[in-house]
Amino acid sequence: MDITTDDVTVLAYPAYALITCRLVYRWIDDKAAFLDRIRRILAPGGVLWVVTEIAGRRTATNPALQKLGISPLDIELLTTGWSCVRTADLDVLRCYALWP
Ligand SMILES: C[S@@+](CC[C@H](N)C(=O)[O-])C[C@H]1O[C@@H](n2cnc3c(N)ncnc32)[C@H](O)[C@@H]1O
Repeated sequence: MDITTDDVTVLAYPAYALITCRLVYRWIDDKAAFLDRIRRILAPGGVLWVVTEIAGRRTATNPALQKLGISPLDIELLTTGWSCVRTADLDVLRCYALWP
C-alpha cells in the first residue's frame, strides 16, 4: 500500500508492535502526515524503527547521491513528539528507535 495516500483504517489498529522504515523516510513527501499515520497503527509500547541516510555524511561527489540524506528539519520532524528516541550511527546512515 501507499502509506501516505491509501486508507490505513483497513489495517488493524493500534496493532503493530514494530514498524520498520528502512531507506523510505527520505522519499515520503508529507512526512508529518506519514508520522501521524504510523502513530495511529503502532500498538501501545510499540516502536518505529527508521534507518535513513543523514545529509552531509556522504563523501562522494555525485550530486544525485548527496540528495539521499535527510535534512536537520526532517530529523526534527522525525524525532519530535515521541516519549523516547534512541539512535545509532552506521557510517552515512542513522538508525532511530522511536516510542510513542
Ligand atoms: C530505497 S527503497 C528501500 C527498500 C527497502 N526498504 C530496503 O531497505 O531495501 C525505497 C522504498 O520506499 C518505498 N516507498 C516510498 N514511498 C512510499 C510510500 N508512500 N508508501 C509506501 N512505500 C513507499 C518504495 O516502494 C521503495 O520500496
